[in-house]
Amino acid sequence: MTATTDKTNSPIGRPTKRIDGPLKVTGNATYTADHKFPGMLYAVPVCAEIANGTIAKLDCSEAEKMPGVKAIFHRGNTSKLFRVNPNADFSAYSDEDRPPFEDDVIRYYGQYVAVAVAETFEQAKAAADQVKVTYNEKKPNVDVKLSADTKTTVESERGEAQKAFDVSANKLDGTYTTPAETHCTIELHSSVAVFDGFNFKLYETTQGVVNHKNVLAQVLGVEPENVQVISKFLGSGFGGKISPWSQSAIAAAAARQLKKPIKLVISRKMTFQTAGHRPRTQQRIRIGTDAKGKLTSIQHDYLNHTAILDDFKENCGECTTYLYSVPNLRVTSALAKRNIGSPTSMRGPGAVPGLFALESAIDEMAAKLKMDPIQFRILNEPTMDEGKKIPFASRHLLDCFKMGSEKFGWSKRDPRIGSMKKDGLTLGWGTAGASWIAERFAAEATVEMKNDGTARVSCGTQDIGTGTYTIFAQVVSDKLGVAVDKVEVVLGDTALPPGPLSGGSMGIASIIPAVSKAIDKAVNTLLTAAAKTPGSPFLGIDGKELQFTKGRIHKKGQDPSSGMPFSEMLNLANFRTVSGKGTSPSTFAQKAKESMHSYGAQFVEVTWQEEIARLRVSRVVTVIDAGKIINPKTGRNQIEGAVVMGIGMALFEHTHYESTKGAPINSNLADYVMAVNADVPEIDVHFLEVPNTELNEYGARGIGEIGIAGFAPALANAVYHATGIRVRDLPIKIEDLLGNT
Ligand code: MOS
Repeated sequence: MTATTDKTNSPIGRPTKRIDGPLKVTGNATYTADHKFPGMLYAVPVCAEIANGTIAKLDCSEAEKMPGVKAIFHRGNTSKLFRVNPNADFSAYSDEDRPPFEDDVIRYYGQYVAVAVAETFEQAKAAADQVKVTYNEKKPNVDVKLSADTKTTVESERGEAQKAFDVSANKLDGTYTTPAETHCTIELHSSVAVFDGFNFKLYETTQGVVNHKNVLAQVLGVEPENVQVISKFLGSGFGGKISPWSQSAIAAAAARQLKKPIKLVISRKMTFQTAGHRPRTQQRIRIGTDAKGKLTSIQHDYLNHTAILDDFKENCGECTTYLYSVPNLRVTSALAKRNIGSPTSMRGPGAVPGLFALESAIDEMAAKLKMDPIQFRILNEPTMDEGKKIPFASRHLLDCFKMGSEKFGWSKRDPRIGSMKKDGLTLGWGTAGASWIAERFAAEATVEMKNDGTARVSCGTQDIGTGTYTIFAQVVSDKLGVAVDKVEVVLGDTALPPGPLSGGSMGIASIIPAVSKAIDKAVNTLLTAAAKTPGSPFLGIDGKELQFTKGRIHKKGQDPSSGMPFSEMLNLANFRTVSGKGTSPSTFAQKAKESMHSYGAQFVEVTWQEEIARLRVSRVVTVIDAGKIINPKTGRNQIEGAVVMGIGMALFEHTHYESTKGAPINSNLADYVMAVNADVPEIDVHFLEVPNTELNEYGARGIGEIGIAGFAPALANAVYHATGIRVRDLPIKIEDLLGNT
């Protein structure tokens, strides 16, 4: 008794408009900061203006007397806030574990030292500015040159990498750096906290309502059932909203103490200081090959900077262990402690900076060997995951390169530096591989079939703007035969069955099996009712003899179109709905029998105008192997957005920490340069669409991150081809390209 699907008319794989689009474009989507409640007060934090030291004195006397001010909270008068337990299972995950106001020590610039609460935002801002803080100041360490402050960890090892390198016919030894980058989501981090004397209702900007609830319950020192977290729409996240940041606890604590709803929206400047960033990395890559170009050794030793208290590791070796066939390999990591706010995940954490180093080095080695870089990859393509020593579940990296080559015209590439010209400009053509994990988080979902012929699906996950609402509607529509616009999708609330984080590109793969099981259960209940309801044409027939196809109940073997629509049956039985709940487990707990990843190939053309030192990205072809694409419209959009971010990563994005005060100084959208329309050419996106049903029945894997993987090295490789200059430190700046010729 399972729902069967009409493949010919399936919404799966059909470019489908976002079901939440009309709400958004008409301004009717309620984002976190849009929430308003009677008597609501506004909170504005006071930020430390040093990065290292202690608070000597905090004087709130003037601020407290200002108009509209209800309270100035600080270490001396805020309610007790607790730390988050260490845990490895993502059940309560936080990148900054110290609760706000825990001690008088300042460890990074912008650390919250107090918060002003007033009747209006302007009053709160004015009061926050009047809080006088004096410090015992020490020189901060925000040095960009990284060395290990922690023990070096061997992440992966096989063979004897150093020995093999020493005797290699061809050697490359390069150090690559990527800068701190800040997530510049349009929507600022916001918290609107409501406390009714017993329960917290927290409206948050979060990529994980369930995680946020679990973290805040610990921080506030209350039971999880007394905390509800709601996040209906997000103006993006990029990983910056995976982990709850301090403003959330500050707002909730203030709501508890003042018994009033509190709104706290942090500024763009605070976003750079206290709400995470992609950490700076420094990666040494050593590669050896034999005389024919077969890899004999890879060593990848990486460091990333992190906060004084929090050990955030940027897993740069993620892809290095399985991307190529190489008998000798060693990947190590270590952390460098700095007076900065905690780093966090940013689109493709680990893999993206890691691939900049690895895929630049591979290109350098290919050039050294005078071999085409794609040919070099073909020569070193593995037949299994040599890191985990298990077969690949689905790996079509070379097919991505093949398709990309054809679309891009790679065969016309003249490998000689600066040799290709067009309209008086020098062309540079570069390529690089992409990869990203493919896993599942645990998920639960409820599906209801209603007596008006519509359906409802609910899940405590959230849509960060990627199209999750629409994907749910498509899956339910496919399985129940209800039109996409007749499916109500309810997300973003911990009152719903617990759903996954919107992180790691794992949302889609995680929710499909849960929704599918929920539907099977609902259909099961429906068919049982069909066999029992007086007046039913199926009365007395064994439920096992019944089938549900395209929204209708019919006897097995009979034409589905002759069946009874489910709404009719529900009305006959006097049921408003039948519902089912489905759960699906995480893949992390299981020992993988196969190595599952997504792959891609990036092709970039730059134009270089040497006379005026003008570098432009003129063409991009991206081919993605991420299994079945459920919605090619939102899917393409994901990859295009990732490529735009990749252009920013390669050429512009860089959070600068000023050395005397330790402040992230370009903490605004004028000085923190990102790629904009004028920097972006047409982006040609292709999907291979080879489904692998290991993770879910459609063979779909997430695509939020894979599109930025490998992009920066492809661009750097194109720059080398055009100019002969190998830039190993991102972002690539015009001054890097001057004076060589
Ligand atoms: Mo992503 S960086 O896991 O939102």
